[in-house]
Formats: sequence, C-alpha cells, structure tokens
Amino acid sequence: MFGGKGGLGKTTFSAATAYYLAKRGKKVLVFSVDPQASLTDIFERDIFGKGPTEIIPNLYAQEIDADRRVKEYQQEIRQKIFDMYGMDKIPEEIESYIQAAAAEPAMEESAIFDEVVDIVVKGGYDYYIYDLVPLGHALYYLSMASVYDAWIDKITGLREQMREYDQVAAVIRREKELDEDAILNELLYIKDRINKSSSILTDKKKTAFFFVITAEEMIIKDTLKAAELFAKFDVPLSGYIINRVLPSELKHQNIPEYLKNRLTMEEHYLKVIDTTFGKQILASVPEMERDVTGLPMIEKMAMAMFGEF
Ligand SMILES: Nc1ncnc2c1ncn2[C@@H]1O[C@H](COP(=O)(O)OP(=O)(O)O)[C@@H](O)[C@H]1O
Ligand SMILES: [Mg+2]
Repeated sequence: MFGGKGGLGKTTFSAATAYYLAKRGKKVLVFSVDPQASLTDIFERDIFGKGPTEIIPNLYAQEIDADRRVKEYQQEIRQKIFDMYGMDKIPEEIESYIQAAAAEPAMEESAIFDEVVDIVVKGGYDYYIYDLVPLGHALYYLSMASVYDAWIDKITGLREQMREYDQVAAVIRREKELDEDAILNELLYIKDRINKSSSILTDKKKTAFFFVITAEEMIIKDTLKAAELFAKFDVPLSGYIINRVLPSELKHQNIPEYLKNRLTMEEHYLKVIDTTFGKQILASVPEMERDVTGLPMIEKMAMAMFGEF
C-alpha cells in the first residue's frame, strides 16, 4: 500500500510497482476505490467498474465503482433482513433508515471495506497493490478493522447471552428447540472476515505500507504526524519514498534564479528528511520530464524506483 497526501505520487508508484512485479513474472492486481478514476488515467484504459482488467501479461488493474458498490451493499442488507426475519417486505422505517445511511460516509467506507476484504480473502494473485485514497481515509480504513472487531465481540457476547435466556424460556414454555440464530451466525461470519483481513493487513511479512513524501516542510510535518497515528493501529510501516526530486545535474548548469532557489530549498528539506527518517528512506525518485501516464512512462518510473530489471 502506498499512502500519503493527495497528488504526491501514490497512484504513480502503485502502477509502477505493479508493472515491475508483473515484468518479473508475478501475478499482480493493482486496485483502487478512488472516485477520481486515476488508474484509468495512468494506464490510459477505461477500467472503471469493470472488474480486474489485464493490462499486460500478469498485470491486472481494477477500479471499484464505490457508488454501485453502496447500492449492492444496500441490497445485500435488504436480502439479509428478508432471510433472517422471514419478511417479504422491508418495513418502511427500516427502508428509510437504509436510504438515509447511504448518504453517510461510514456506509460507503463499510461497502468499500467489504469489497477490499472480498478481493484480498479471495486470493488468486501473488501481489495486491492497494492504491489508497488520501491519508485521512487510509487511516480511517485501517483503524476500522480494530473498531469493528471490538464492536462485534460485544454484540456477539450479548447475543449469546440472550440466546441462553431464550433457551431457558423455550424450555419453560415447552417449545421445540430454537432455530439457529441467523443473526449470530452473520455476526460470526463478519468477525471471521475482519480477523482474516486484519491479520493480513497488520502482518509485516504479508503487508508493506509505504509513505510517499516530497522535500517540502508541510509534507514532512504531516507525514510525521500520520506515521505516529499509524503506529498506534499496528500498521506495518515499511519505509518512505521521496518523490519528485529535481535532477541534481541541474545545479551545474546555467539555470535561472527561480530554479536555483527551488534547488536550494530542496537541498535543505532533503537534509531534513534524511535526519528525520534516516534509514527508513527506501528510494529517491526524480522529477520526470512529464507526467507519468502510459506504459513507457510507467516503465521509466519503475526503473527509477527499482533500478534495472
Ligand atoms: N516523479 C514524477 N515526475 C513527474 N510527474 C510525476 C511524478 N510523480 C507523480 N507525478 C505526476 O503527479 C500527478 C499526481 O500523481 P499521482 O500518482 O496521481 O498522485 P496521488 O495518487 O498521490 O494523488 C500525476 O499527474 C503524476 O503523473
Ligand atoms: Mg491517486
């Protein structure tokens, strides 16, 4: 996973890393739920909402249509109400609740979380590269597993207790055995999925989280704060990649004052980055002559990140 503020290069690095791994014979899925449809732009292929699409051999890209996902998710909720309560129509107050909840960011996050869990738990690829939305979202997403887990533990506990009372009541009323508790089963199913996915997400052997940074004061400060928060949620932070470093040969050329100032400023913040992040810096990637779109530029970026391959 590549994290960092918007516009620093997460999608670019995700695509280039996927390209690099695919060229080395690994089967890779790079996917995003970014509504800005950025994988479509970088691969110059309309993949939005189309499921995994083969870009080159071994390289698949997928852009999740969050709106459609929310609608499907609502339908799944309705279906579960039908199945669990044996209803043939959703009561009006519940339907209006489902409608209202769709406008909540939390509903979208849950729907997306569910889809990401599906993708990762399903398997089929050697590597998954998750092109994350900007930092706040990423954190929310990653913290959700532990919040969900605690919440579900609590509800499951309460339900199990209630069930015991129900059973006693059933015996007293000389009723037949209770039906299986469909809701409890559903909760246990959700819990199992969350445990499975969060054990993948927080396992340093399986998951690597990289921060993209640039040589600017605000970015360095924000990244430091974010890194502290990430540590709280046991996110396995693997290191930092500096992006958009001006080519050093510029220094020895006859360049305008403006560019000289940029270079001096950059030199200063590169030193700050070095003293702040030290050995955790994994790579330094130059500012390219143009934006990174299309396979030839992606290949160039992959070489800048990983060296020859
Ligand atoms: N090293 C680089 N050289 C030139 N352009 C870059 C570089 N890194 C990123 N870009 C460009 O910057 C823009 C933002 O990058 P992107 O990967 O979409 O950021 P994010 O996904 O973090 O929002 C894109 O147009 C991309 O092509
Ligand atoms: Mg992006």
